[in-house]
Amino acid sequence: MDVQEAVASRYSCRAFLETPVPESVVRDIVERAARAPSGGNIQPWFVHAVSGEPLARLRAQVAARAEEHIFGDGAEYAIYPPGLKEPYSTRRRAVGELLYWSIGVPRDDKEGRRRQYRRNYLLFDAPVALFVALDRSLGPPQWSDLGMYLQTVMLLARSHGLHTCPQEAWTFWHKTLGAFLELPPEHILFCGMALGHADPQAAINGWDSPRAPLGEFATFRGF
Ligand SMILES: Cc1cc2nc3c(=O)[nH]c(=O)nc-3n(C[C@H](O)[C@H](O)[C@H](O)COP(=O)(O)O)c2cc1C
Repeated sequence: MDVQEAVASRYSCRAFLETPVPESVVRDIVERAARAPSGGNIQPWFVHAVSGEPLARLRAQVAARAEEHIFGDGAEYAIYPPGLKEPYSTRRRAVGELLYWSIGVPRDDKEGRRRQYRRNYLLFDAPVALFVALDRSLGPPQWSDLGMYLQTVMLLARSHGLHTCPQEAWTFWHKTLGAFLELPPEHILFCGMALGHADPQAAINGWDSPRAPLGEFATFRGF
């Protein structure tokens, strides 16, 4: 698979098959993705891959509490700034509408939306979870380095025929995960990522998230 195809075929997969992913494949992806660039080559990422019995235990632990407390331990960082401005707010709402529309959950079905949100905590049934953390002393440039690492993981996953979903939702379980993964206190969890084989029949995997046209976000001079 070439890079263009990997980029074009990546999407946030929210329904996975149970088909396991061998440890060797996960190791390969996690290791190769470290070719991602980082400012000053400081490589600020820490990655924790979880599968099998430990993942079942984590799911059970979180699911038991998520019924009552959908936002678990509370977010450790603001996923969006308060009062998210335009055009970001509209874009965010639009993708939410598409997602819930794809599974037949209308806007006013709050419980239906919560039910879908909780599926984050099952990693959408993916057989592998990656959790990515960095040192708390690091700032926005290093958080952006993590983004580069994560995108490289997602593209490498495509080269193995696998799909992914990055998940900030896991910040809501930062205390639970901190204990589960034995994160040192100086590490902050950025996000989780579901990894596995996409369920091609699932309606939630069958729509495309929109993108702003080129003219809205790029300028070109001197060509
Ligand atoms: C860092 C990051 C965190 C995300 N967190 C979640 C999440 O918690 N749950 C979820 O369903 N999607 C999550 N997404 C997926 C975005 O909603 C998705 O990337 C966006 O709508 C564009 O769609 P696409 O990935 O299918 O192209 C996240 C994406 C990124 C990059």
